[in-house]
Amino acid sequence: MIVPSILSADFSRLAEDCRDVLSAGADFLHIDVMDGHLVPNISFAAPVFKWLRPVFPEVFLDVHLMIDEPVRYAPDMVKAGANNVTFHVEAPEVSADLIGAAQAIRKLGCHVGITLKPATPIDRVLPVLDYVDLVLIMSVEPGFGGQKFMQDQLEKARILRPLMKTHQRIEIDGGIDATTIDLAYQAGVDWFVTGSSVFGAKDRRAAIHSLRTPLQQPR
Ligand code: DX5
Ligand code: ZN
Repeated sequence: MIVPSILSADFSRLAEDCRDVLSAGADFLHIDVMDGHLVPNISFAAPVFKWLRPVFPEVFLDVHLMIDEPVRYAPDMVKAGANNVTFHVEAPEVSADLIGAAQAIRKLGCHVGITLKPATPIDRVLPVLDYVDLVLIMSVEPGFGGQKFMQDQLEKARILRPLMKTHQRIEIDGGIDATTIDLAYQAGVDWFVTGSSVFGAKDRRAAIHSLRTPLQQPR
């Protein structure tokens, strides 16, 4: 799945920009919520992205919470239309009870994802695997779009791949373009978040087409 992150959209015309990438071939949308504590940037939250739900009633909204208190705010996210809510293992509210956090989010009726910063070892998520639908591998330091892909993070996907059940997905986020997507795909990734390489492209249809090309190969 090709999943553009609205962090790189033009917020003065958010719905139009989203319609544009979806009609250019994107599968659904990634929504980066940041609180300026867990990551060194502040983006937006439910009061902003809730406006997408009525415009795109059928589109899966994949919400990536880069915030200290993901369980506290998850109900707001689901009310605003989140279909998946991903939390960070480093978030102080949840780090002592990751399974409890996953269960609390699942109770809201959405899918649950877990993610980790580049410096955090994959061992942190392994005990929680049975409680999540998705593991998101950060291939940049979370906080900003447009950073360079960290290839060493692919080792995490290689470790995860044989452990994932058929309904579970591996997602990658940060620095994905027409070159790096192939490396991630070969390492076992299913969902590819793309910020600048899609929203920033002059021809978004061509950009999504060239992102998909390596995914036609067997892995
Ligand atoms: C980074 C965000 C990413 C970011 C990706 O903290 O989680 O989703 O928007 O942007 P690109 O694809 O430009 O690296
Ligand atoms: Zn993200």
